[in-house]
Amino acid sequence: MTILRNATVFVDGQLRKTDIAFDEKIRAIGSNLSGDEQIDCSGRLILPGGIDVHVHARDLNQSHKEDWASLGRAAVSGGVTTVCAMPNTDPPLDRPEIVRAYRERAASARVNAKIYGGITRDNIGRLEELARDVDAFKLYLGETTGNLVITDRKLHREIFKGIAQTGKLLAVHAQRGGPPKTVTRHEADDIHYVLDLAAAHETKLHLVHVTTRRGVEAIVEAKRSKVDVTLETCPQYLFFTERDREQRGAWLKMNPPLATEEDREFLWWALAEGLIDIVATDHAPHTQEEKSVGYERAPAGVPGVEFMLVLLLNAVNAQKLSLKRLVEVCCANPAKRFGLPTGELSVGRDADITVIDMNIARTITRESVRSKCGWSPYEGLRVQGWPVMTFVKGRAVYP
Ligand code: NCD
Ligand code: ZN
Repeated sequence: MTILRNATVFVDGQLRKTDIAFDEKIRAIGSNLSGDEQIDCSGRLILPGGIDVHVHARDLNQSHKEDWASLGRAAVSGGVTTVCAMPNTDPPLDRPEIVRAYRERAASARVNAKIYGGITRDNIGRLEELARDVDAFKLYLGETTGNLVITDRKLHREIFKGIAQTGKLLAVHAQRGGPPKTVTRHEADDIHYVLDLAAAHETKLHLVHVTTRRGVEAIVEAKRSKVDVTLETCPQYLFFTERDREQRGAWLKMNPPLATEEDREFLWWALAEGLIDIVATDHAPHTQEEKSVGYERAPAGVPGVEFMLVLLLNAVNAQKLSLKRLVEVCCANPAKRFGLPTGELSVGRDADITVIDMNIARTITRESVRSKCGWSPYEGLRVQGWPVMTFVKGRAVYP
């Protein structure tokens, strides 16, 4: 049994000075607990491990960009203890055999792995079978890395109906492709289209990487009319806009593209107000070489899993975000939505824990990046509030 002593622990929505005891599960939260391994955590903050429901772990034929081992190291160094990995891998995760092989690769990582099944023209008739091996499904309606885009509207109806029958969550990349400004302008329309499908077929829906005010508003309105939907935004849309893309080109090329300053400010407001359910990174590692070939030819996507919590902890330090909201969007809400045994510190939950020092201030540098891609869009940013220790199912995985 491990005891973390004298820390400030986030329990039941508030901070408490207490000890916490765990093996693979949290066994007790209280004062003067005893156990064989005791770690003094005076002055530190203890939070549930972060859950990043949108990462591209790559591996397989793209392990030069990232593999499960490097992704795991990056995640836990940033206090993230669970990741949900997308199926646009090479080869794609669209058959039970390949999903099982991928899960085996993931088992060697230090982080908990959840896996999305991909939907293709070929497997639409066999989603029920694939459902047994995946944690959720992912549908791409617009431009993305890989070959998983489906544009046929008749197939969309079939898919929403079929996934509803499996009872699994359907994550949708709603934004259709096109020139960046057009994608941004059309995001709300694309989201309306998906919301209508989910309403018609009673599909459990999660909208990934929402970037605009009107997109968020469409989803908030759908929730009022009882559509079973959650929404995610990503740190890159909170920190950058189309202006930054104009300056930094391919390094900030991503799907969906960066939106306007008005949208960015709205996202911060919506985050603080509770309109955003989940923050996830869309961690999309591409190598520096691949990103260095000019805007048109470079692949879309930026890495982010290791800095999600620090970016938001810094916002807490700057009083731009409450700690309560941070824990909701990075831990509690993702756990609820994906049915995970983590996301809050309470007795009986899996001991996925991160210990934070809110006083450490450090600049994000290229040298400090643990992801195999070896760079970060946040290089040069000085942030305060860093994870100093991370436990996954009670095991110390960082440092
Ligand atoms: C993602 C990738 O590289 O896999 N890229 C991106 O720009 N977000 C794919 C995706 O999520 O669409
Ligand atoms: Zn996407």
